[in-house]
Amino acid sequence: MKETIQSYEDLLTMLDHLLKEESEFNWDNFYSDRERRVPFFENHPDENLVEYVETERIKAGKALELGCGPGRNAIYLSRNDFHVDAVDQSEEGLGWAEERAKEQGVHVNFIQSNIFDLDIEEGTYDLVYDSGCFHHIPPHRRMSYIELVKRALKPGGFFALTCFVLGGELGGAAISDWEVYRGRSMRGGLGFTEEKLKEIFHDFNAVEIRKMRDKGPESSQFGTSALLAALFKKETME
Ligand SMILES: C[S@@+](CC[C@H](N)C(=O)[O-])C[C@H]1O[C@@H](n2cnc3c(N)ncnc32)[C@H](O)[C@@H]1O
Repeated sequence: MKETIQSYEDLLTMLDHLLKEESEFNWDNFYSDRERRVPFFENHPDENLVEYVETERIKAGKALELGCGPGRNAIYLSRNDFHVDAVDQSEEGLGWAEERAKEQGVHVNFIQSNIFDLDIEEGTYDLVYDSGCFHHIPPHRRMSYIELVKRALKPGGFFALTCFVLGGELGGAAISDWEVYRGRSMRGGLGFTEEKLKEIFHDFNAVEIRKMRDKGPESSQFGTSALLAALFKKETME
């Protein structure tokens, strides 16, 4: 790896490495034991996503899921007539997702890639969905993340995400962006508030930001008030 910084991309890569050097965490290992008691390992869609679809706030179209993991939301969208591209960097996570889709007889175009390496044609999607990926994106990649969502969406398209509540029960480090680099750690995922999300995604119209509704183990949906659910809309005119 060359260690000379000659471009903005070199700088981002250096910061990626700075954080990775301190981290033992690996998503492939995380998904390799499917029996672990991880709330989002159940094959149930997010309650907020179900609400958007059932109330027809979001109508079927072309969807992109960022950080789809074992695919529960991508599969739900496909079962509800969306054409879905679902991206994750984890081979193990996507292998599991593909098995699930096959079992349920649905088609999802699963793509193994870092989301920042995607080559997306401008204005392709009606919906970009992210459940639990954004809070793992380090602050120096946030501008690229916003550009990716903007580029991917059609004018009038929706962007929805769930992410850790600041200092929430499941995680959500209450640290500043600078502190991430001082400590060289994302502390398991960053926490957000409604105000912070509005600030970060100010280029979009905030349609609704609320806590997810708690769903018990008997429910066919996933929901926990330890996560925020946010729905944004890309302006029709830029
Ligand atoms: C908390 S998991 C959520 C998985 C899935 N969305 C769900 O809710 O069941 C976060 C996922 O984001 C993926 N991820 C994080 N950063 C990524 C990146 N830069 N590119 C692609 N995937 C990424 C991880 O591999 C992991 O599967």
